[in-house]
Formats: sequence, structure tokens, C-alpha cells
Amino acid sequence: MHHFNYKNGELYCEDLPLTDLAEEVGTPTYVYSHATLTRHFFAFDRAFDEHPHLTCYSVKSSSNLSLLRLFSNLGAGADIVSGGELFRALKAGVPPERIVFSGVGKTREEITNALKADILMLNVESSQELTLINELAQEMEKQAPVALRINPDIDPKTHPYITTGLREQKFGIHFNQALSEYCRARTLPGIEVKGLDCHIGSQLTEVGPFTDSVTRLLVLLDRLKELGIELTYLDLGGGLGVTYNDETPPEPDEYARAIREALAGCDLTMILEPGRVLVGNAGILLCRVLYTKPGPEKNFIIVDAAMNDLIRPSLYDSFHAIQPVVLNDRPQIIADVVGPICESGDFLALNRDLPVFAPGELMAVMSAGAYSYVMSSNYNSRPRPAEVLVRGHEYFIIRARESYEDLTRGEEIPDFLLKGA
Ligand code: LLP
Repeated sequence: MHHFNYKNGELYCEDLPLTDLAEEVGTPTYVYSHATLTRHFFAFDRAFDEHPHLTCYSVKSSSNLSLLRLFSNLGAGADIVSGGELFRALKAGVPPERIVFSGVGKTREEITNALKADILMLNVESSQELTLINELAQEMEKQAPVALRINPDIDPKTHPYITTGLREQKFGIHFNQALSEYCRARTLPGIEVKGLDCHIGSQLTEVGPFTDSVTRLLVLLDRLKELGIELTYLDLGGGLGVTYNDETPPEPDEYARAIREALAGCDLTMILEPGRVLVGNAGILLCRVLYTKPGPEKNFIIVDAAMNDLIRPSLYDSFHAIQPVVLNDRPQIIADVVGPICESGDFLALNRDLPVFAPGELMAVMSAGAYSYVMSSNYNSRPRPAEVLVRGHEYFIIRARESYEDLTRGEEIPDFLLKGA
């Protein structure tokens, strides 16, 4: 459930009419609902209340400092995958003891910074990474708290680009090598073995793959116990899907219940890394129709947002519902919603049954809270949109719209070119 609803034929975010917001802030703009973010966090986190756990919001899904602060205020930690995300999480005030760090390619600098910050745990994805973490921790006269990320070889039945738990993928340490890596890890003086981690993919719409991987991990945990390796944390990653169109993913309650049942008495502290389920339906991309163009084959609605602002439809063929901000009686047409970018892959929706939009009219691209602003770019030298957080009838600009000056920040023309050489 989210707080983007029509009142008297006009789309609101909470108590704020989006028409007013667009007037004041301009378009395209990402709009997030404070009440929805809060509600989603509690729905997820409380579903695990019966088990000791830490919900680490997956920063990559939507990384604005205000969102990180909001979740941190509610008790969340952060799941990070880069030095930049570490910087963000700390800057937003997430306590380091609630931060876990995954990622197949952590650099020396990123590992060192994480160790300096005393984060909760590094999720190690390869044997060589374990060796490097051990070396760096020893240089710092520390013991690095680690979990090994295990690739359980489970099919999450989602888009291939966001499947991560199959053996042919780059993620984690293969299940069959897990025991030997744990045995090695415990002999390394710079390593403190704390946990077991896995993340099998994103936008999962069934609980089966989650519980299957828990079952596989429990086998491993038993073997580790036999070897005298006792862990504190079981990190199950993120991945719970949301409804974009007609998907029916499990509710957090059902997901949590299934996981608790599969855990069958295992009392390790659980770490969960939800991203999309917290933010996906808590944000929209508000844009304006520039032109409409009936073509011989297709009708086009050309808007002021494009694939640089929201790449998910072009990249994954993903569905985002398209809604007019003002409802009125009008015919429907089948149309493509496209942006101004010079590529045919620049679309937000294809062959959609939509009301006939008029030039100048506002449009809401729904479910754009996750993996949307964070994947935006400046392609075609388009400044990135603003990000706005709405709370009741108030709004806060949590990221300013980029300016043309922002576009060239850091660029320099060398002297020899200025001299015309
Ligand atoms: N933990 C790890 C280690 C991850 O790699 C991810 C997502 C998550 C947690 C959070 O997963 P979530 O709960 O959001 O499903 N750009 C793609 C999604 C990429 C997901 C990457 N990893 C998209 O737009 O659909």
C-alpha cells in the first residue's frame, strides 16, 4: 500500500497535490512519500519481531541521504556495496555497527575504510578477497569481522540480470568451497569469522527460492558447528519483490513466516537487506508531456523524462504504471511513452493502453522509488531530476535538480586546446 492516491480527480502524494508540487519544483522530479517509506519499513521489520534480527536497508536501491537517515531513525542499518555507499551511510548518521558490506570487487581502499569505520561485518565474496582483508586488518592491528557470502546455486526465478544465486554467476563463494574457506578463515589472525551470508536475487515473487536457500545454508551451518565454527549472524540478503503491474509477491509477513519456519530453531541473529520492498512503491517519477505524436504505426507521448532519468524499462523491459495526474473523461489509446533522448531504446512504456494525454499535462510514472534515481545518468547532457520527500502536506527538496554548471563540473579544457593547437 502506498500514499499516492486520487482525491477529487487529482493525484496526491499524501496530502500534497502533485500539480502544486510540479508548479513549484518543476519536472521531471522524483517524489517519495514519507508515510509510505515508514509504513513499509515497519511492515517489514516487525514481521521478523519474533526472531533476533537487524534490518539493513539496501543503500543501492535508493541512496539519498534523507532516505538513509529516515530508515536509520527507525532503527535500520545499511547494506552497502561500495566505498561511496559507506561514505553516504556514515554521512547520513547510520551507526557503523549496523553496516554490512557486500560486493565482489571491494578495493584495498574500500576495505581499509570499512575497517577504520568499525562496521558490523564484511561479506566476503572470494578466497582472494579474504586473504586481502586478513592482510589489511593485520596492518591495522585489527581483526576484521566477516561473513562468507555463499552462492547456494538456487534459481530465484526472476530477470536474468538480477539473478545472483546461481553457480554460473560472479557472486559469492561456491557452496562446495564454503567449508574449506571457513576452515582457512578461522586460522587467519586478521579475521574474525562472524557469519554466513547469501543473496540470491532481486524482485522475487515467490517464497520458495528463499526457503530453499535457507535449507541449504542450514546444512552448511550444521557442518560448521561440527567443525567447531560457531557463528553469530545469518545474513539472508534482500530480494523480496513488489507489485509493478500484476505480480503478487508475498507480503512481508508471509515471507518472514516462511523464513522463520525454514530456520527450524536456528537462533543466529538474522540480518536482512531489503531494498526494493521498502522503497519501490514509495516513489514516483513526476514528469510533463511535451508533445503527442500520432504516427503511421504508433502513437507517441513525448515527455520530459527519459531513459537517463529512469533506465529500468529500457534495460530490463520493466513495467512502470503510467497515470495522469488529473483525471477526466477522455478516450483511451495505445501509445508509447518516450523521452527526448536520441535512441529508440528511450522509452518509459511501450504499447500501453492509456488515456489520451494532452501536451503540457502532468504524468506520474509509478513505482519509481527503487533503482530509479540511483541508476540515472547525464546521457545527452541532461541534468538529473530533483528528489523531493513529501510528508503530509509539506515537501522537502532532498536533492536539488542539477544545473547546466553541474554537468561540466570537474571538466577542464587543457591549455594547448585553448590555444587552438
Ligand atoms: N543485498 C545485496 C547483496 C544485493 O545485491 C541487493 C540487490 C540487495 C541486497 C537488495 O535487493 P532488493 O531487496 O532490492 O531486491 N537494478 C535492478 C536491481 C538490482 C539489484 C541488485 N542487488 C532493478 O532495477 O531491478
